[in-house]
Amino acid sequence: MKARLLDSEAPGGKRQNLAEKLPLSTPYVVQFFPIYACNFTCKYCHHSIPKEKRKFVTDWPVMKYELYEKCISELAQFPEKIKTLRFVGMGEPLLHKDIVRMVKRAKELDVANRIEIITNGSLLTHEMSDGLIAAGLDRLVISLQGTSADKYKKVCGIDLDFNSFVDNIRYFYERKGEAVQMYLKIVDIALDDEEDKKRYFDIFGDICDTIGIENTVPIFPDVSFNKDLYKAKGIKTQFGLPMKHVKVCPQAFYTMQINPDGKIVGCYAVYYPRILDDCNERSLVDIWNGEGYMTFRRQMLDGRENVCKFCEECAINDFRIFPEDDISDYAEELKAKYKQL
Ligand SMILES: C[S@@+](CC[C@H](N)C(=O)[O-])C[C@H]1O[C@@H](n2cnc3c(N)ncnc32)[C@H](O)[C@@H]1O
Repeated sequence: MKARLLDSEAPGGKRQNLAEKLPLSTPYVVQFFPIYACNFTCKYCHHSIPKEKRKFVTDWPVMKYELYEKCISELAQFPEKIKTLRFVGMGEPLLHKDIVRMVKRAKELDVANRIEIITNGSLLTHEMSDGLIAAGLDRLVISLQGTSADKYKKVCGIDLDFNSFVDNIRYFYERKGEAVQMYLKIVDIALDDEEDKKRYFDIFGDICDTIGIENTVPIFPDVSFNKDLYKAKGIKTQFGLPMKHVKVCPQAFYTMQINPDGKIVGCYAVYYPRILDDCNERSLVDIWNGEGYMTFRRQMLDGRENVCKFCEECAINDFRIFPEDDISDYAEELKAKYKQL
């Protein structure tokens, strides 16, 4: 296998101690959530919940290009470059009709060190691959759900032409060039046994730069599959690191998510504890330094349980935390810093 196997490490690369860098004048990660829709219904994911049972996520499901254009030009006004600009959120980003144009624009304005997409890969046609490569995408992450069409049907309820799917991934890999990174990952529950694991590495191990098997973790409230995961897991994070209950959620200190309707949230929870702001009304730089974010951060430094019940019970951090991001032990000194802002 040519690809490097990632095991118990951050897929995006080495992290630095976050607490020492705070407060940040520029977010490290800006995540565009371009479309609240998915063509898969993975049984461990929020999209397995029937639509009528889902709570509020966004006022409208597809980000308008005009709003994207406003945001991307404002990102260029931050004092530093964003580290990672990511297209993901609770949906399939390649479903957005302007996705290639969005990547191209972000590249033209040079707003981030790395522009990446996390996708299920099912819409990665040759045309899509050519478009994304030409647009300047820096990293493509493909979330895999099995080593056969049968498994795709079982895990995510879709009929997939598995051979064409693999060929499409190979097409991207062979044309992307060395500057573009490609990470393929699969959820552990999609692999039956050691033989299936071997099949996974045989099929995909030579058509990506890094490859991994991630733990499926119970992070979505209301997903019925969660209870099976709780039984089986509880000791490792999604990335294979020891699980830890963090007192202070660090996400709002370094990330910004822009929802399809322009509402800004400071975390990747599907039902947010709070909408922090709205970029239809204010600029992203003002929002990052504004009262919505600052009040939330100050409250968070007193501990998750002091923010709201939702944050107290949220499993995302516990199952996704990297040790470098845990700012809990620095809360007192950070409180003094954030008080002055
Ligand atoms: C929600 S999806 C959205 C992006 C895109 N549709 C995709 O499939 O990559 C983002 C990523 O979260 C992962 N994911 C979703 N639910 C998860 C869970 N309960 N445990 C671990 N990973 C999960 C998916 O496998 C995927 O890699």
